[in-house]
Amino acid sequence: MVKVTYCGHSCFHLDDGTHRILFDPFLTGNPKARARPGDFARLDAVLVSHGHADHLGDAVELSKRCRAPIIAPFELAVFCQRRGAHVHGMHIGGSHAFEFGRVKLTIAHHGSAFIDKTTEYTGNPCGFLVRLGGLLFYHAGDTGLFSDMKLLSELDAIDVAFLPIGDNFTMGPDDAAKAVEFLRPRYAVPMHYGTFEILEPDASRFVHRAQGRGAELAPMEVGETREFS
Ligand code: NI
Ligand code: MN
Repeated sequence: MVKVTYCGHSCFHLDDGTHRILFDPFLTGNPKARARPGDFARLDAVLVSHGHADHLGDAVELSKRCRAPIIAPFELAVFCQRRGAHVHGMHIGGSHAFEFGRVKLTIAHHGSAFIDKTTEYTGNPCGFLVRLGGLLFYHAGDTGLFSDMKLLSELDAIDVAFLPIGDNFTMGPDDAAKAVEFLRPRYAVPMHYGTFEILEPDASRFVHRAQGRGAELAPMEVGETREFS
């Protein structure tokens, strides 16, 4: 059993009773987030899919405070390390067994750079396959639809898929519905919507389009915790 808490945008907190991991911790500056970096006293890892501010978020601060490694594509890991974070760099197609479980990086069709006054390249964006508490989670990061999602479901049975549905920067509801068909997860949890004006405002269109494609559609409210087993 794994307790999943939706912290807003693409940020999820997973707790299997022993280990706690956090994906894409965009908390500070997220108008819809309820959690604050200070709410997380203990983390075993912070997984960051790419360098855009709405995913990197508070990762460096959380890594320092919790002494938790940032697991990210290599170039982004080095970027975080230069800012004082503990890191574990990986790359697409590679997997590694951490104490909490195995992590594998998948492709994601998107960009990845830290954009401030200058633009710093942070490698390729990625998605994550994470084995935790006996379940296989897929966090797609920011991505467009790709047919290799079929390969992911062929290689392993995905229990819970976190999929962007917001459109404009990532898959919209129609393509995300197709992703559900390709990935065949037991549960599909939408993300990356409602945060900014330009994104799909809610999950209703996705739920409508993805119905009947084999997965239980499980949109979560920001701040909601749900147990998956
Ligand atoms: Ni992005
Ligand atoms: Mn994004």
